[in-house]
Amino acid sequence: MSTYERRVAGKRLKRIDGIGKVTGKHVYASDFALPGMLFGKILRSTEAHARIVRLDVSKALALPGVRTILSAQDIPQILFGTAVKDRPVFAADVVRFRGEAIAAVAATSLEIAEAAVRAIEIAYEPLPAVFDMEEALKPGAPLVHGAWGDYQALPVLDREGNISGRSSMAGGDIEAGFAECYRVYEHRFTTQHVHPGYTEPRTAIASWDGNGDVSVWCNTQLPFDMKNMLAEVLDLPASKVRVVVPGIGGGFGGKLRVGVEHFAAWLARRSKRPVKIVTTSEEELTDAYPRQPTVITLRTGVSKDGILIAREGRVLLDCGAYANSGPATAALALQMLAGPYRTPHFSYESVAVYTNKGSTGSFRAPAGPMGNFAVESQIDLIADDLGIDPLEFRLRNVYREGDKGPAGDTVSSVSIEESLRRAADAIGWKDRKPGPDGGKSRGKGLACSWWLTTGGSSGVYVKINPDGTVTVVSGAVEIGTGAMTGAAQILAEELGVDLGDINATDVDTHLSPYDYGAQGSRTAFSVGNACIAAAQDLRRQIGELVGPLWNVAPESVRLEGKGVVSGNNRLSLAEVAALSQRTGGGLISHGTFIQPMPTFDPTRVRNHPLPAWTSHSFHTHAVDLSVDDVTGEVSINRYVVAQDVGFAINPTYIEGQIEGGVAQGIGQALSEEIVYEGGRVLNANLTDYKMPTMMDMPRVECILIEKPSVNGPYGAKGVGEPPCIQPPAAIANAIAAATGVRIQTLPITAEKIALARLKDGD
Ligand code: MOS
Repeated sequence: MSTYERRVAGKRLKRIDGIGKVTGKHVYASDFALPGMLFGKILRSTEAHARIVRLDVSKALALPGVRTILSAQDIPQILFGTAVKDRPVFAADVVRFRGEAIAAVAATSLEIAEAAVRAIEIAYEPLPAVFDMEEALKPGAPLVHGAWGDYQALPVLDREGNISGRSSMAGGDIEAGFAECYRVYEHRFTTQHVHPGYTEPRTAIASWDGNGDVSVWCNTQLPFDMKNMLAEVLDLPASKVRVVVPGIGGGFGGKLRVGVEHFAAWLARRSKRPVKIVTTSEEELTDAYPRQPTVITLRTGVSKDGILIAREGRVLLDCGAYANSGPATAALALQMLAGPYRTPHFSYESVAVYTNKGSTGSFRAPAGPMGNFAVESQIDLIADDLGIDPLEFRLRNVYREGDKGPAGDTVSSVSIEESLRRAADAIGWKDRKPGPDGGKSRGKGLACSWWLTTGGSSGVYVKINPDGTVTVVSGAVEIGTGAMTGAAQILAEELGVDLGDINATDVDTHLSPYDYGAQGSRTAFSVGNACIAAAQDLRRQIGELVGPLWNVAPESVRLEGKGVVSGNNRLSLAEVAALSQRTGGGLISHGTFIQPMPTFDPTRVRNHPLPAWTSHSFHTHAVDLSVDDVTGEVSINRYVVAQDVGFAINPTYIEGQIEGGVAQGIGQALSEEIVYEGGRVLNANLTDYKMPTMMDMPRVECILIEKPSVNGPYGAKGVGEPPCIQPPAAIANAIAAATGVRIQTLPITAEKIALARLKDGD
């Protein structure tokens, strides 16, 4: 808190984009249309690994209304990818997963495009495929990419055969550490594919103009990355690509990378008409960017009184057929294996593996729930074995202010103990196994974690209009979190105006300043800081404008009450903006921010793209649930989240983020899984892919802790990703407390619980 009472930041104000969205008036990418546009549809592989021996589009092309059909032979052979350039626009001679794009059709209606896709004739020659990570690592396993060694990749990656990246972190002396342990525990955990579950399907509308420039309206989280990626696959200078995001209905990491934009752009280029493509649920569940499955093994040694001494951990992470963010996610899992715990001796390794399944991506807190499920399940197992209360065990081992993280970076603004105590108090921790509950067994569990606030630069243009309103142009999209409202609250605070005076525009890469994008819990944090910088610059501009008029020092000029003030002098902000338009081109500023990167110890880290974390957040989830003694069905009685948000810019939307993250985490914990059998997705529809609904959701009790970060606006920390990290572990721990059954494989379905209890003779 600075010297004055905040009027706007920290208040539960309504979202600046709220009315349009709740009334259905807001135009999302999938609502967007252009005159004369065609509809695109993709032909997808029905084989998991095969050579394409015949592709005949002649019958399809002859259908009335079909304008263009494209396959690999019709466009330049360009491979793209974030970490490894391993992915073609269309599979050329080989398909690597079932659902991979082989051809695309543009037609005058969606029905005609679908009919044309069905009329394309194709024949395959199957190749040996590999679906299991551990199989893929064996000598002689089929290679998903025979030519992996020829691919361009980030230099930090350590690749070989079916391994797209390998990272490690180590400190202390692992052998000596284990030698001094009282007991050593080994466990194995597995986690599944889960879809980000955004409401709006991925969409693109592409249109080319007379100069050979292309505009793409789409729902990407990263418009500037999208622009560069499209330039690459279209073989164009980036200046000829414009990306506009009219609106985006959720992302959660699933809209960070190209979805259908490249198909729409190529089809539009050849058709000489705009083309629109929208994904179906089936496409979402077979060719999107779900969370990667993992196999995690942990070996942890402790002293007799429950102090962590040594830990060895290994994560295998299934990228599917294309690496995308798999290598980076696998590396992030190393920080998750460390958890928010002091561990003097450690050795963590991660391996990202190719298999013949759909590609995967960075879903909200990439690596978070997987690593946390393993570590926090094992903490309970160890504590129970030693006869130490799991809360007490955690309190003995969590980070204190100034401790070093696994990369040797300093951990600051540490609030993990407070989050543990407050969540435990709220759930009534002392009574961990309250006993039978009418045919059900009841228990409580908790799990804690840490996370980072992602860096990257942000920029905003802020313009003060001659009617006194303020326009902010940002390169970051509002993906539904309310983050842009948070940034606007900060801007309003700094400029002395109301939130209602602020207008925000859509992102258009031709017009908006660069921003690293809506990802990594960074938007309100980073854009908010850019707004502070812009406001400071505007204050300077205004001081220099009115100072000479009033004969006062420019630095004495303050912005308050929608006005400009110095001593007894006052003008409204509107008057000053109008004055500036007459004398100096108007009041406009480009505010920028980039979070400083902390130093770390490079000798502890190998092949890690993000070794040191910035603006850490700390959080604990506590759950009280009941398990049906016959069916194994889990019902959640109470759910508590104690999360350190640094400074709650808008508590209402932070609570919204927490509720949503918990819903996604409950889905991963109990019911969601993209089920593969032999490379085929068995449940590629929203009936059989079971996301929790409102009926499945408990009320989420939120405790917001405000331990200020060094770099955040007013001390804020990233908020969006953390809430989906702990639900699987907290729920697994509560189920174990309730039933004595420990499930180490996600999702923890009723069936798994019931079968395990039968086996236990329970
Ligand atoms: Mo998030 S996975 O950084 O959108």
